[in-house]
Amino acid sequence: MTAPEEAHTSTERTLILVKPDGVKRGLSGEILRRIEAKGYTLAAVELRTATSDLLAQHYEEHVGKPFYEPLVEFMLSGPTLAIVAEGDRVIEGFRSLAGTTDPTSAAPGTIRGDLGRQWPTKVLQNLVHGSDSTESASREISIWFPGLS
Ligand code: RTP
Ligand code: MG
Repeated sequence: MTAPEEAHTSTERTLILVKPDGVKRGLSGEILRRIEAKGYTLAAVELRTATSDLLAQHYEEHVGKPFYEPLVEFMLSGPTLAIVAEGDRVIEGFRSLAGTTDPTSAAPGTIRGDLGRQWPTKVLQNLVHGSDSTESASREISIWFPGLS
């Protein structure tokens, strides 16, 4: 029989990106610090330069939306730090650490709330990406780290 506390336990992996705005502003270390301080472990960390093809796969759900082209342009504007983090309910946990999409209204205490604001550009620059479900986590990890076991 499963103990009640175990019912809420699920070790999983998520894909996190420190987007080009975060890397340019020198926030990679601060963001990694918050991930580790929460108790998650790092399964992969690599500075990567995205390509249009990779972003078309990664942002499949957004292709055709009005912000898609500016989003791709932003994501191609510099290197991205790609991270696979692991831990109990890390998918939900990192989304909570990141805060809501718009950094202007994201709660203080979150990465976006503490460190981000909406730069005057065509698209929201919000420092980080985090997978939003187990399905998207496994899809996104295989796109960014095809060799990771
Ligand atoms: P992410 O996928 O990056 O973790 O962010 P999210 O789930 O909070 O937001 P999502 O709706 O998936 O949007 C993906 C990214 O597109 C940019 N965006 N800009 N109206 C806009 O200018 C706009 N809407 C979305 C953001 O960079 C967002 O994180
Ligand atoms: Mg998303």
